[in-house]
Amino acid sequence: MCGIVGIVGTRPVAPLIVDALKRLEYRGYDSAGVATLSEGNLDRRRAEGKLVNLENRLEFDPLAGNIGIGHTRWATHGAPVEVNAHPHFSTKVAVVHNGIVENFRELRTELQADGFTFSSQTDTEVIAHLVAKGMKDGLSPEKAAQSAISRLTGAFALAIMFGTDSNLIVAGRNGPPLAIGHGAGEMYLGSDAVALAPFTNRITYLEDGDWAVIRRDGMQIFDLDGNTVERAQQTSVGSALMVDKGNHRHFMIKEIYEQPEVIGHTLAHYVDFNEQKVALHEMSETEQPIDFASLDRLNITACGTAYLAGYTSKYWFERLARLPVDIDVASEFRYREVPMSKSGLSLFISQSGETADTLAGLKYCEAEGQHLAAIVNVRESTIARSSHSVFPTLAGPEIGVASTKAFTCQLSVLASLAVAAGVQRGHIDRERETKLVAELSEAPRYANEVLKLEEEIRQLAHSLANKQHILYLGRDTNYPLAMEGALKLKELSYIHAEAYAAGELKHGPIALIDEEMPVVVIAPHDRIFEKTVSNMQEVAARGGKIILITDPRGAEEAGMDGAELIVMPSMPEIITPIIYSLPIQMLAYHTAVHMGTDVDQPRNLAKSVTVE
Ligand code: M6R
Repeated sequence: MCGIVGIVGTRPVAPLIVDALKRLEYRGYDSAGVATLSEGNLDRRRAEGKLVNLENRLEFDPLAGNIGIGHTRWATHGAPVEVNAHPHFSTKVAVVHNGIVENFRELRTELQADGFTFSSQTDTEVIAHLVAKGMKDGLSPEKAAQSAISRLTGAFALAIMFGTDSNLIVAGRNGPPLAIGHGAGEMYLGSDAVALAPFTNRITYLEDGDWAVIRRDGMQIFDLDGNTVERAQQTSVGSALMVDKGNHRHFMIKEIYEQPEVIGHTLAHYVDFNEQKVALHEMSETEQPIDFASLDRLNITACGTAYLAGYTSKYWFERLARLPVDIDVASEFRYREVPMSKSGLSLFISQSGETADTLAGLKYCEAEGQHLAAIVNVRESTIARSSHSVFPTLAGPEIGVASTKAFTCQLSVLASLAVAAGVQRGHIDRERETKLVAELSEAPRYANEVLKLEEEIRQLAHSLANKQHILYLGRDTNYPLAMEGALKLKELSYIHAEAYAAGELKHGPIALIDEEMPVVVIAPHDRIFEKTVSNMQEVAARGGKIILITDPRGAEEAGMDGAELIVMPSMPEIITPIIYSLPIQMLAYHTAVHMGTDVDQPRNLAKSVTVE
């Protein structure tokens, strides 16, 4: 999703802005631009596609100036072409924006009636003209910006630069995140602290409804009525080092290989392996511990892969802790006006901690007086900062747009929480807790084992490349995992993939089965393995080509002649969702590599989805 950078500096800023934009590349984008002010002239360079195109343009036609704003655009209104790339200009005004101005049509009509002409199809351009109109009417740049921001509805993070002031950027936030960085004689602005890490680790986050006046010697934050508001300065833990791919071809495969380590780190945060018990980490003074024993309901809200981690945990919480779970995709939950239990807990799962729909779900639950808990990977994110209890995943920065290690770390946290809930609610005794903890502690070792299957999976993936449709089947926790497999495959390879609970196949989807339809079945040998075997037989009888991911006993007992097998080690049931994630990730990865798609930044996708 769009990335924003701004610098009020003391040296030429265009190359610095491009470097900072590179650190936001992971968010996903399809065009980019930068504008600077030099000797009273606002000027800009913009380019379609990757940042390298913008860099080439700047090399042949550099931009001078010690103040500037930059942007990576993920198209919402208007095609990803240069004319729609940010910054957008009006008279003496330049604007970059992340989000959607929902009332842009009425504002556009009004501004056109006032004589402003539009050169793009974006919603953003109305902001530039609104500010210019205010200045034309005699307002100072700050007041014109405040007035413009107050007229916008929808979600936005924005930065405005003025041709009349070489020491001023105005920033505004209502939804997507914005971080202000404090330097020595320079000030910075970015969509996240990681973008600003080479410049400073002293960060102030804007809250919704804030707008800020940023000058070289500092900044001031206001609310929409113009009252000064105080926001704490924090020390960011974001690394100044640019995360790189190491020896790997893509970030995704690097992140797949990091899983044994990060799963281990994450589990160690929630489990005391010496004492063989779950030990939820100590909370900060501002956080509130969770009393699972007093809960009558757990409501989980998330999007995409994070939602599927939540879905998996429904089986764990209900089985291990007898705690009923409602699980929702955030985009539906936020508008459904769900009645919330007074003794309930609302849990939000998000890698980025900035997903707009998940955040809106959190706001709904906040208004309903719920205890808010979050599982997040980015600890300084808005969702983390807005929650009463935070459970971090220790996955490290995840750069590949397709979530891999964040997912298995989310599962690791959720498994630990489910065991903790089971203990607190009296459904897991000491002996069983010891056993479950010992089983969880095996996860990193099994993950390492399974990575050795990569070459086998790579060869298998060739048979999936160029297929039109692929089905994924699973039962119990393997059903959400089947959904995750289908999601991974479609987002990376653009092959249409769907997942079904294996028992649901006969209620309609079986009509799709023919010789052209590969069916990936995730079925370790568990207590319902036989049921899944029956479903596989139904597929085989209709000519469907089966790829079975199972363990040695499952491979032996399935009796599926002609099926392709991925044979996993036998492992304890509680860790199967974590470990079986790896083959489905590798299958999707190698299918995509074989097809030559953009694995780390698949078309149309954004890493951090900060608009609805
Ligand atoms: O940052 P979040 O975990 O809130 O993101 C949620 C989804 O956008 C994300 O999981 C998405 O589905 C991934 N691209 C899946 O690989």
